[in-house]
Amino acid sequence: MDNMEIKTFSSYEDLSRTAAQETFDAIKHGLTNDNKFVLGLATGATPVAMYRILIQLLSESTLDLSQFYTFNLDEYVGLTRDNPRSYYAEMMEQFWKPLKDNNPTFNLDHGNIPNGETFDTEIECNTYEEIIKQVGGIDLQILGLGTNGHIAFNEPGSAGDSRTRVVAIDEETRKVNAEKFFDGDISKVPTQAITMGIGTILEAKNISLLVSGESKREIFDKLKNTTEPTADNPSTFLRNHPRVTVYTDIA
Ligand code: GLP
Repeated sequence: MDNMEIKTFSSYEDLSRTAAQETFDAIKHGLTNDNKFVLGLATGATPVAMYRILIQLLSESTLDLSQFYTFNLDEYVGLTRDNPRSYYAEMMEQFWKPLKDNNPTFNLDHGNIPNGETFDTEIECNTYEEIIKQVGGIDLQILGLGTNGHIAFNEPGSAGDSRTRVVAIDEETRKVNAEKFFDGDISKVPTQAITMGIGTILEAKNISLLVSGESKREIFDKLKNTTEPTADNPSTFLRNHPRVTVYTDIA
């Protein structure tokens, strides 16, 4: 794993605590030196504890967060934002609202996520790319890892230069997400999502990949053992990025 620094922890809690501390340090450094920091956020189960600790650190700090921006990787198409299962609702509950409540200098309008309710997805996707450019690009992108190697909703077959677009969600992913977030009812899981593309993700200045739990061992081994990127396992495109830090509890 030449271009990837792998940090292995004995527990999910330790992984989350260190990832949170190092993310906080990066945010503090960016706000202090560049008067701005743009953090890319992932959804799913893996980053939840890290977010909780990061928000504690940001809340205890005296940092002025008026120039702190976040951009989520993806959102389901067709779920309204008041649907508790939308990624918008998940991020409002897990990240933006607790942060705003504890550090009022954070501007809720700076929490960006694709609008899954949009009637014109083409415009929405292009606008999302535009806003990322307008704030100067993403300084640090947090990523999880799908069991089939997807990053964001870039499923196997995604092109390495893909941009923010509407994608079909693989059956395997819909099944996994149904179990975790839709009471096991796959019929409730949307079939499409808007996702940042691989190309979009690789433009982030730094990437932190969080990989936790036995269910990710096989796909993580594949990533570690693959030197050449392949669309069959989109996570391998991370090989093309110079600054990837992996936080894992998989020994
Ligand atoms: C979801 C999300 C990804 C996430 C991945 C892993 O489908 N689209 O952004 O990283 O699957 O999720 P988890 O962390 O719950 O394993």
